[in-house]
Amino acid sequence: MIQLIRGFKDILPGEVELWQEIERISRELFETFGFKEIRIPIMENTELFARSIGEHTDIVEKEMYTFPDRKGDLITLRPEATASVVRSYIQHKMYAVDPVRKFYTIGPMFRRERPQKGRYRQFYQINAEVIGVDAPYVDAQLIFILATLLDRLKISDVAVHINSLGCPECRPAFRKALTALLEDKKEDLCADCLRRSSTNPLRVLDCKVPACREAMADAPPLLDYLCDGCANHFASVQRTLNGLGVPFVIDKQLVRGLDYYTRTTFEIQTGALGAQSAVAGGGRYDGLIKMLDGPDMPAIGFAIGFDRLVEIVGLKQVDFEKTPRLFIAALGEDCAEKAFDWVCRLGLAGIHAEMDMAVRSLKSQMKQADRSRAAFVLIIGESELASGNAILRNMRTKAQSPIAIDANTVKNVIAHIRPHAT
Ligand code: HAM
Repeated sequence: MIQLIRGFKDILPGEVELWQEIERISRELFETFGFKEIRIPIMENTELFARSIGEHTDIVEKEMYTFPDRKGDLITLRPEATASVVRSYIQHKMYAVDPVRKFYTIGPMFRRERPQKGRYRQFYQINAEVIGVDAPYVDAQLIFILATLLDRLKISDVAVHINSLGCPECRPAFRKALTALLEDKKEDLCADCLRRSSTNPLRVLDCKVPACREAMADAPPLLDYLCDGCANHFASVQRTLNGLGVPFVIDKQLVRGLDYYTRTTFEIQTGALGAQSAVAGGGRYDGLIKMLDGPDMPAIGFAIGFDRLVEIVGLKQVDFEKTPRLFIAALGEDCAEKAFDWVCRLGLAGIHAEMDMAVRSLKSQMKQADRSRAAFVLIIGESELASGNAILRNMRTKAQSPIAIDANTVKNVIAHIRPHAT
């Protein structure tokens, strides 16, 4: 039997309703705050991700699904969405019309990580990006939106972690201090980190190898090296979050796994997912648009791990399962013919009705009706046909009422089974 690829998964009916509901709540929230949906391709030229996420990150070095297409061009299944949103913003010269843009996008991402609970090779993200504003209000507003979304999804046991990663003005002094420390710790580092010590020392702070983590435990925090501009910006973000009543912790160890970040970075962390503690992550990327040959524009965004959200959501699956409003139990071909006509016409009127198209026994059809959890059952057999009245049963109250079998049957049924009729 052919099975799905390791680290990939099916989201089956019964589960998918919760995904749809989370998506609906997210869209509603984003639109309230003026975000517009953008849909970007699932594949891009590899260079886009290599340049923006960074050549020396785990994602680019080890995790991307990259392959030559039939002409030999290197393409990559997107490991994240930010690079593509920025590419699109630049390519369509969106800055020329209105430089400030707020986008959201929802869809699958691909990273070849070791699969475990909360970590998949195809996973889904809910992304929000704001391009064109450097005010700390935006940073605070994005974190506020994230916190609001988690609240609406009845997720507790989460904490907002924030940090600042500075800018090209304050990074060099930090880099120098870090490089000196790395020189001292050479013996303790993994091969990747040894290499990164010279190519991209900041990435060593993000290494998941326990020995490297231990070696870097006493690394100086970047926060201590911020220039005045970055320190003031970070202080304003905190002040604004306090004003909005969003609790947060300052996490000096939070470096994030992508190279494009500057200034504010943040994560939503939870204890509910074992080792995969980050439900969402984001931050400023003020240099990325220029680096990808666009104008010099600040930007900030976040991505929520949709799969992880589903695992910790407080809303219950059963609240969103969709069941038919009506099941028509029809006996004999003449009645089935009528039932079929009604099922189709109820569908046109936006009412989900089911029937047994194989026209089995009444007992079997009543069992099907129960299994389908339909709110009402309409029964029509030879005797109903002869008497000119079908029987409508309310499955909750067990009350029964006759429905005339004539040109108005569908109209009459609708009048009885509208939601207020239960
Ligand atoms: P990221 O931290 O790499 O950031 O991913 C964001 C979230 O996606 C993580 O916090 C996690 O919940 C989820 N995630 C990541 N990898 C996996 C996986 N293998 N399986 C399941 N969930 C996963 C970014 O991707 C940035 N583009 C976020 C951003 C947007 N920054 C600015 N704008």
